Amino acid sequence: MWTRVCIVLVGLVYAVSCDCNVPPSLWCSSGEVAQSCGVYEQCRSALMRDPFAKPVNLTLYYESLCPDCKQFINDQLYNVWKTLGEDVVNLTLVPYGNAREKKGLKGWDFTCQHGEQECVGNLIETCAIALLEKKTAYVPFIYCMEGMDIEPAKAAQKCGEKLGIDIDDIMKCSTSSQGNNLEHEMALLTDALNPPHRYVPWIVINDIHTEKMQNKAQSHLLEVICETYKGDPPTACSKLLKSSGRIYKDL
Ligand SMILES: *[C@@H]1O[C@H](CO)[C@@H](O)[C@H](O)[C@H]1NC(C)=O
Ligand SMILES: *[C@@H]1O[C@H](CO)[C@@H](O)[C@H](O)[C@H]1NC(C)=O
Repeated sequence: MWTRVCIVLVGLVYAVSCDCNVPPSLWCSSGEVAQSCGVYEQCRSALMRDPFAKPVNLTLYYESLCPDCKQFINDQLYNVWKTLGEDVVNLTLVPYGNAREKKGLKGWDFTCQHGEQECVGNLIETCAIALLEKKTAYVPFIYCMEGMDIEPAKAAQKCGEKLGIDIDDIMKCSTSSQGNNLEHEMALLTDALNPPHRYVPWIVINDIHTEKMQNKAQSHLLEVICETYKGDPPTACSKLLKSSGRIYKDL
């Protein structure tokens, strides 16, 4: 549908690249999107720096044992989250991915792409998010788990020891109806994606997923977040954008 909008626009606006596949309400959401939709000039004021800017919403839809998810979390996500902090990036983790659910006799039955152990991992991570509550507690825990190539229950044990987190309640939650319901919430969040996810990791930034953004985020997440954030650039961003020779001031 947006492709059609885009083609119509080619007739109206000078030099529209047909990379524009987000709804018009989101055209001014970042310099890159505005550019690909041919409305950069029209978006200029919306793209101005805002000293009261909200953090960039970064949501990762993933599943616990997928190799590309592990790689993204280990090589990009954790460092960027740690470097930029919560004022700049608002990270949401949704451990479900390509899993399926069916209403069973007792709660929901989950089937996971990488087998039963992946469902175990998803449930442990989902319970960690709910029970640890603070991102400063559960993000390092999940990062640690995703960095291990052992069974999720063992990884949770090791990471709990390493980070000084008592995992008893998390493990209990993961096999109880509480965990079952929490994982169902993750399924609902994943199934509500529009457009629906086609693979994992699936990255959504301020409600937008595009192939271009996803590809860039998988290797240069810091740059993507820096370009999207509208507040005064944190040191990590100004350094990065200066060295890459980008015009950052206007965006
Ligand atoms: C992030 O999401 C929250 C909640 O949906 C929303 O209020 C906020 O405006 C979003 N931030 C940005 C930068 O879009
Ligand atoms: C962070 O993201 C959560 C979940 O998407 C949202 O509810 C919350 O409002 C966001 N916070 C900010 C400061 O944007």
